[in-house]
Amino acid sequence: MKEIIIGFLGCGNVGSGVWKLLKSIEKDIAHRMHLSIRVKKVLVRDVNKARNCDVPHELLTASVDELLDDPEITLVVECMGGEQPATEYMLRALRGGKTVVTANKVALALNWHRLQAAAQERNVGLYYEASVCGAIPVINVLQNSLQANRIGHIMGIINGTTNYILSRMYENGEDYRDVLGDAQRLGLAEPNPASDVEGYDAAYKLSIMASLAFHGRVPVSKVYTEGITKLTAMDISCGKEMGYVLKLLAIAKREENTVQVRVHPTFLPESHPLSSVNGSFNAMYLHGHACQEMMLQGRGAGDLPTASAVVSDILHAATVPEHSYPTFANTAEADPSLVFNDNWVSKYFIRLSAEDRPGVLAKIAGWLAQEDVSIATMLQKGRADDGRVPLIFVTHTAPEKSLRKALESFDTALCTVESVIRVEE
Ligand code: NAP
Ligand code: HSE
Repeated sequence: MKEIIIGFLGCGNVGSGVWKLLKSIEKDIAHRMHLSIRVKKVLVRDVNKARNCDVPHELLTASVDELLDDPEITLVVECMGGEQPATEYMLRALRGGKTVVTANKVALALNWHRLQAAAQERNVGLYYEASVCGAIPVINVLQNSLQANRIGHIMGIINGTTNYILSRMYENGEDYRDVLGDAQRLGLAEPNPASDVEGYDAAYKLSIMASLAFHGRVPVSKVYTEGITKLTAMDISCGKEMGYVLKLLAIAKREENTVQVRVHPTFLPESHPLSSVNGSFNAMYLHGHACQEMMLQGRGAGDLPTASAVVSDILHAATVPEHSYPTFANTAEADPSLVFNDNWVSKYFIRLSAEDRPGVLAKIAGWLAQEDVSIATMLQKGRADDGRVPLIFVTHTAPEKSLRKALESFDTALCTVESVIRVEE
């Protein structure tokens, strides 16, 4: 029986899940793989804090040196989160000849080039399936299973916290601030939940997925990012009335060498496959020139679903004859052959508060028409207390910059723009 000795950096939601899963399948691993995994050290901030798993107290340490300088530990599981000190600890581990398995999309998206270079230098493994979409094996699918494809687009629900919040807002009309606390209690949210609700978590994940899908580095700085904090129950209920479901989507599209990468709230028709992905579930809908449409769906967050990806990486790393790495030039900067387009074409849901008098509608249509933006649907919602009336338009497809320019020309004495949400089909 082969034994590998490992250390954990972090034992919070994910680390506890990894501990529990390793213990619960110990016998299966021994039987199936003739492998025994021994956890020797667990780094935490506070060794006296109550833990959500039965890790023995004597394994806990607050000294990273104790773990990283231990030559018996050949594999490090990083689940502490944040860019630093996690990146420096992973670099130290890799340079010290230890394989790293991480769930940390922030550290990976920002420092992937450094981590991969350090791993390749020592011929050790760097594995990160858990960093994107929790239990869904999207990294493996993009890196291996769909290698024969040119991926044209990816549209994904890749943040469990915001999907959980938006699902509750859609179903019960709740406010996002009330639901966020529940997402935190369920262990879905990031240590700093602003990363979820501002869209950064999804942007880090999209940067990783798009780099793998397009075989070139797509840095986070190239991802247009807009979160869910400005959305209102009114937007969601108006969209619902028009047959739309609101999701925080991560979108990456490629045509020849031109790419667009963006994270923002998006209305989808109720019939779209992603519209029925609710709660903490994630999904990735993609198109490859050979495989055509495909959707992968599963739990995107939470202790055991995330541990499923981490433990599978540990088992793979412990048994693979040779570690492999993505083949694109993994640099800090964007791949020079990719052209980034920030003037993408979309339909738009525009909610206005407008003066309720003759001619206003014609003026609004005129301001939009000046920039070649045409209206597909309109909805008027009763009458507001201040005499202004809520108006909702959905446009036909238009370039982002034309829509922005048209909105700037609106006369605020007649109408104010309350929200603008992109619509995908
Ligand atoms: P968490 O519950 O806050 O756990 C973080 C752990 O790291 C805690 O045990 C903490 O110690 C330890 N830690 C943090 N900073 C440390 C430091 N400077 N020195 C020593 N120990 C430190 O976070 P989590 O939810 O498990 O997330 C961990 C990572 O997994 C993040 O990168 C996150 O993005 C990723 N991830 C999370 C999920 C999810 O569903 N939660 C899913 C996929 C990926 P104490 O316990 O003593 O405070
Ligand atoms: N906070 C993240 C989410 C955890 O909600 O998706 C999984 O990466």
